[in-house]
Amino acid sequence: MELNLFDIQVYTDRRNTLKQNFGQDGILLFLGNEDSSMNYKDNAYPFRQDSTFLYYFGLDVPTLAAVIDTQSGEEIIFGNELTIDDIVWTGTLPTVSEMAGRVGVTATKAYNQVAGYVQSALAQGRTIHVLPPYRPEHQVKLSTWFNVGFAEVAELVSVKFIKTVVAQRVIKSPLEVSELEKAVNISIDMQLAVTKHARPGIKCYELVAKALEVAQANNGRLGYPAIITTKGQTLHTHYYGHELHEGDMVLSDIGAENAMYYGGDLTRTFPAGERFTDRQKELYQVVINAMDHAISLLKPGVRYKDIHLASCEKLVEGLVDAGLMKGNPAEAVAAGAHTMFFQCGLGHMLGMDTHDMENLGEKYVGYNDTLQKETSLFGLKSLRLGRELEAGFVLTIEPGIYIIPELIDRWQAEKKYTDFINYDVLNSYRNFGGIRVEDNFLITDNGYQLLGKYLPKSLQEIEGLKG
Ligand code: GLY
Ligand code: MN
Ligand code: MN
Repeated sequence: MELNLFDIQVYTDRRNTLKQNFGQDGILLFLGNEDSSMNYKDNAYPFRQDSTFLYYFGLDVPTLAAVIDTQSGEEIIFGNELTIDDIVWTGTLPTVSEMAGRVGVTATKAYNQVAGYVQSALAQGRTIHVLPPYRPEHQVKLSTWFNVGFAEVAELVSVKFIKTVVAQRVIKSPLEVSELEKAVNISIDMQLAVTKHARPGIKCYELVAKALEVAQANNGRLGYPAIITTKGQTLHTHYYGHELHEGDMVLSDIGAENAMYYGGDLTRTFPAGERFTDRQKELYQVVINAMDHAISLLKPGVRYKDIHLASCEKLVEGLVDAGLMKGNPAEAVAAGAHTMFFQCGLGHMLGMDTHDMENLGEKYVGYNDTLQKETSLFGLKSLRLGRELEAGFVLTIEPGIYIIPELIDRWQAEKKYTDFINYDVLNSYRNFGGIRVEDNFLITDNGYQLLGKYLPKSLQEIEGLKG
């Protein structure tokens, strides 16, 4: 097996930057991921290494951990050498010390020495900084190594460590941008294959198969479970059993993770047959107008939350023109009435994780000390990114219109937003479904750059793909 690694200098530079930014303050502990069994031990889900581990240590191998002593500068990778059984069944790998050498780390220890290392450091009064655990085995390990109950594991988490990692990972280097572009380009080829294959009579899972084929054929895989559905009003559905009918729209939200673990995240909505209906055309254009307005505002220094709200206003303008809403768009958005149609946020950070670094905490990635997340308002509580943009951020823009019959019934019964929503008209759209369009952007010094080659987006272009 070949290890997919950047040049050794990439990892040593990243760790040196981390040490410099963090200062001399205890020990940083990094947990790699484990193989995760599907139904019996030797039948595991595809292995995915922890992204922070990949970022600093690069090694895509299960059961590794690492420490950086910020005072002595010492770096250690902990791992197990393969047994002859491992080699017989799953093939060979370089030794742990050879692998560590490939990422510029000279000291290695057996994995079962992590507990002793942690205990002896604690006994010396050293602080050990830990990132939030997001897998059950992380909880078990931290509980064992630190000799604390599960309930106390959360108390081990170091906000300073989180903030320092986020500050570094959130600014994408040119090398990372080029990997992201590769991932987006594979994702675009997936979308083109899915769109062209769609036709009445087939099932959504046949479209998922097309996406998987293109990802795999490009040495990639899906960065998140495909969302390919004729019921686009369900934001993140993973049900693929629906048949495509003439007059349906298909919402396809798919993204490839490339060989270096960076991901794209693209959505297109297109007709199951060859043409959109007039109603679909009208609302599709409303979404595109909201998207183009949001894109025009992308530049350093602007708060993403303000772009979200400006995009919502454009959406409402279009919904008023279509007769679904009424009143003043700015007032409608301030009241939250647009959330009948757009219940989520405009987008999120993108990187090695589709929702980049969400495991480290949205409040540190999408927000910061100067802008806290609204946690109770419907709509804004789902806005994963709000903070002021900086050059080097990579993010998505993904407005949508989702007509959710259950939400109509609930809010109509509550007489909610009756000043802004035309319930009579809206009820005639009950079976409309959902539209989302999503692209990926790099924030540059002066504005933005669309990542990847161009993927058809306008009504005419989308219909053009369908013959
Ligand atoms: N693909 C998940 C998302 O767009 O957030
Ligand atoms: Mn998406
Ligand atoms: Mn997204």
